[in-house]
Amino acid sequence: MTATADRVLIFDTTLRDGEQAPGCSMTQPEKLRVARALAELGVDVIEAGFPAASRGDWEAVNAVAREVQGPVIAGLARCTREDIELAARALADAPRHRLHVFLATSAIHRQYKLNMAQEEIIRRAVEGVTIAREYCDDVEFSPEDASRTELDFLAQVVEAVIAAGATTINIPDTVGYTVPDEFGELFRYLRQHVRGIDKVRLSVHCHDDLGMAVANSLTAVVAGARQIECTINGIGERAGNCSLEEVVMALSTRAAFFNLKTGVNSTRLYPTSRLVSSITGMPVPRNKAVVGENAFAHESGIHQHGMLQHRSTYEIMRPEDVGLPRSNLVLGKHSGRHAFRDRVKQLGFELDELELNRVFEEFKALADRKKELFDGDIEALVLRSGNFSSGPWSLEHLDVEAHSGAPAVATARLKHADGRLSAREATGDGPVDAAYKAIVQATGVAVTVRKFEVHAVTIGEDAQGEAILYVDHDGRSYRGSSVSTNIIEAAGRALLEVINRIELSQTITTRSGERREDAARVANTAL
Ligand code: KIV
Ligand code: ZN
Repeated sequence: MTATADRVLIFDTTLRDGEQAPGCSMTQPEKLRVARALAELGVDVIEAGFPAASRGDWEAVNAVAREVQGPVIAGLARCTREDIELAARALADAPRHRLHVFLATSAIHRQYKLNMAQEEIIRRAVEGVTIAREYCDDVEFSPEDASRTELDFLAQVVEAVIAAGATTINIPDTVGYTVPDEFGELFRYLRQHVRGIDKVRLSVHCHDDLGMAVANSLTAVVAGARQIECTINGIGERAGNCSLEEVVMALSTRAAFFNLKTGVNSTRLYPTSRLVSSITGMPVPRNKAVVGENAFAHESGIHQHGMLQHRSTYEIMRPEDVGLPRSNLVLGKHSGRHAFRDRVKQLGFELDELELNRVFEEFKALADRKKELFDGDIEALVLRSGNFSSGPWSLEHLDVEAHSGAPAVATARLKHADGRLSAREATGDGPVDAAYKAIVQATGVAVTVRKFEVHAVTIGEDAQGEAILYVDHDGRSYRGSSVSTNIIEAAGRALLEVINRIELSQTITTRSGERREDAARVANTAL
């Protein structure tokens, strides 16, 4: 992490603030996979989670700290000794780690959430930073809801925590309320009024409630911030966080304006975006800036004509700079291993021989069912291989019969990792309903389906369908997805992924005896 004046650090919080978004929770293997992709992308800091939130969160942060090399690994903590100690222990194995402590400072939070006077806030913030410094030299402090905090009070808090040893001061627009001019002023005010501010790194953390997270972050950078907190695809609480790919490409595309660099390898943006979308089940909107399917598509005749004359007429970035494959070359059943390997590489995936062999076998099987295979098909195969499909239950057989005017009948045969075989037949109102009932009965895991979506991964009548399923079970939300040319099978496998997630999370919950929602209690759990 080079600390030059023209370098902006990219602090990725996909695994913490991003994962907090409804339906975006990830299993530990998934978090590790994302963390490795972030390291390869070249982010400077990975905020791996909030260790005091639950035993599962603690374990995931610890796994990232142990296994992911390169970036600084950060963990979030409230300003309490218990939280900070838990975070410090989770992070201890990372060669470079950071404790990120936070406390709300705005009048609204002081009055309604914390019931604390200003003096108490300053006392606790200083105490939090002082404790954190006992464990780590790299301590970040965030005054939560900073953008709605009285400027003079915010300056007092920041000055006090700098004196206590904070090395990064992060200014969050927690509720996505600020606007660029106002936020730039806030940074300038702090730089003018806070003693010691030149000794620390200023950071910005924006939410997107009014669609201004990226603009506000860039304004903060112009006003002196040298770290941006952001997430892949902008996932996060409510409307999300500042989108990493957008802010990085704004800085590089408008380098002459900003005169600032990041350490991000932009050609990894597209594959990382797809990976996070696939794991979280949060689709990337077609028109999403930088990584959306249409971000480089030119439809109108005038635009196409211009593009043929010179790309710069309608393109401010090159698709290859963000890792978007230039061509949508079609592969088929006659394509060899070589062509397949090349395509996988061009799509930005690095597979070892074993993984490549497995995905190539799946590719061949798919090519027997489908005439042409597009990039979307290959992405789906790669993203769904390995960890993605792992879980205690696997589907051995699913047979569904459906005729108009009569109930559908499904038979499901499943195998559990402990060796159990379970088969059930069920009738339902349509093939998906019948398949779900048979799988639920065979596994004995009851779920309430909240939302079910199917969409085509690519084009053509033989396109693969992606089924995405959102369910509730025991007061928690889960998501599963799967891809197949047979959408009933995709729906069945999506349900199985959900059931596997439920079983895995129950293993963690039973071991810790605690639940994520019960964060305060978990904070006191001795690990
Ligand atoms: O939005 C926010 O205020 C946060 C802090 C914990 C940094 O996520
Ligand atoms: Zn946030």
